[in-house]
Amino acid sequence: MRTKFKVWAEPFINEHPEVMCPFDKLNEQGSYYLEIGSGKGQFLLDMALKFPELNFIGVERNVTCAGFTAKKLVENEIKNAKLVFADAGQITPSINSGSIEGIFLNFSDPWPKKRHTKRRLTSESFLKEYYRILKSGGHLVFKTDNYDLFTYSLEVISDSSFKLLEANYSYDGKDEFDATTEYEKSFREEGQPIYRLVLEKV
Ligand SMILES: C[S@@+](CC[C@H](N)C(=O)[O-])C[C@H]1O[C@@H](n2cnc3c(N)ncnc32)[C@H](O)[C@@H]1O
Repeated sequence: MRTKFKVWAEPFINEHPEVMCPFDKLNEQGSYYLEIGSGKGQFLLDMALKFPELNFIGVERNVTCAGFTAKKLVENEIKNAKLVFADAGQITPSINSGSIEGIFLNFSDPWPKKRHTKRRLTSESFLKEYYRILKSGGHLVFKTDNYDLFTYSLEVISDSSFKLLEANYSYDGKDEFDATTEYEKSFREEGQPIYRLVLEKV
């Protein structure tokens, strides 16, 4: 599902700094949940609407996806969610240790080739960074349709400091602290199983 480039996306992002968070300002945002690879922003929008007392920040590196997210946040007058238009690998090192309430990885790109392993958002180096930036007791929640990425992630997690709370091979989408993403909606419509991992920083 490649997102077709939209010329309006970058100007829209630039015209709406109220929904954007510059990545060097992340440590000034107080307490928040982070979604990495937020795509077109449905999860971010729905979580912000469902939990108005909490703050959410999405990270997205694709300009068109970032534009769609910014549009959703502006049109719904969202005050408790923002978007960082950047690559996750660039921003996580600048986030203070122990500062993030929780992290969501939703339908991350699988990068199936071995030479691209480091690009997977559940690679060893990313997991180390997530562990560092999460608050103690904070959760990392990972949903995917991709069995190979799921089993790869389980393997990497077993060598990490995270405690595995849940490895679900057929997630029903009914956790209250969750929302359906764009990709998830279409995979569920096709009847594909959704895999989910929940990890805790101990
Ligand atoms: C397969 S899509 C899933 C989008 C959305 N989470 C969903 O479930 O509908 C993966 C998204 O992650 C973004 N992405 C992948 N690697 C990223 C990275 N290192 N930093 C920021 N965004 C990333 C891609 O641009 C893409 O929009």
